[in-house]
Amino acid sequence: MHSIDSMPARIEAEPPFLHDLALVEEHAWTLLEGGASDRRSPCHALAIATLSDEGPQVRTVTLRQADRAAASLRFNADARAGLVRQLMADPRAGVHAYHAAQQTQIRLRARAVLHRDDAVALVTWERTNPSAKRCYLVPPPGSPSGAPASGLPSSLERRRPRDEESDAGFSHFCVVELKIESIDWLHVHAIHKRRARFDLRDGRWQGTWLTP
Ligand SMILES: Cc1cc2nc3c(=O)[nH]c(=O)nc-3n(C[C@H](O)[C@H](O)[C@H](O)COP(=O)(O)O)c2cc1C
Repeated sequence: MHSIDSMPARIEAEPPFLHDLALVEEHAWTLLEGGASDRRSPCHALAIATLSDEGPQVRTVTLRQADRAAASLRFNADARAGLVRQLMADPRAGVHAYHAAQQTQIRLRARAVLHRDDAVALVTWERTNPSAKRCYLVPPPGSPSGAPASGLPSSLERRRPRDEESDAGFSHFCVVELKIESIDWLHVHAIHKRRARFDLRDGRWQGTWLTP
């Protein structure tokens, strides 16, 4: 919470979205699209929560694609990871991002569609650079390791794999597509706080202001 003393002496220019839900929707998608296209964006590393037998689980993933028209996000994952196993059992996911410079938190409710060994997985794999492909050559993520280790074959610890070496990883490769069902947007400026929610109904976003 900001005290009066910590508030800026000068009231800053009001962002245009303060009174306009359509601009809030635009703002939310601009942040997500920036997260996919700009690796320095705070929205490039998203937190994704899933349901497991042991309760909720949350971890970071790297946003690869944000498609506003399709209302979807994509990231890549190891098909053997807990994340993918949990999404196979229950496709519901929560996503969180906080863009500090924009003072904006975005929370999404989504359903995952998993692409393994299909056209989407193949095209994405072909576009993935060799050092990222190397991540799929390790033993199952989270499996016990007798010693401190990266899991990579020692011959690949310090160099990029050649195509024929990295292609063995494709059998573990999964593209996770998140079909977004709702967006909860929160702007936390000291003076002009705002919150809005957008639900996808029959292919159209229905927006409503909420009390922050
Ligand atoms: C900055 C960062 C980016 C990450 N990106 C991904 C990613 O895109 N895909 C992925 O499967 N794991 C990614 N991870 C690893 C996951 O956070 C997590 O460790 C992995 O999914 C295993 O956790 P799980 O057992 O819950 O699946 C990333 C971790 C960090 C710290």
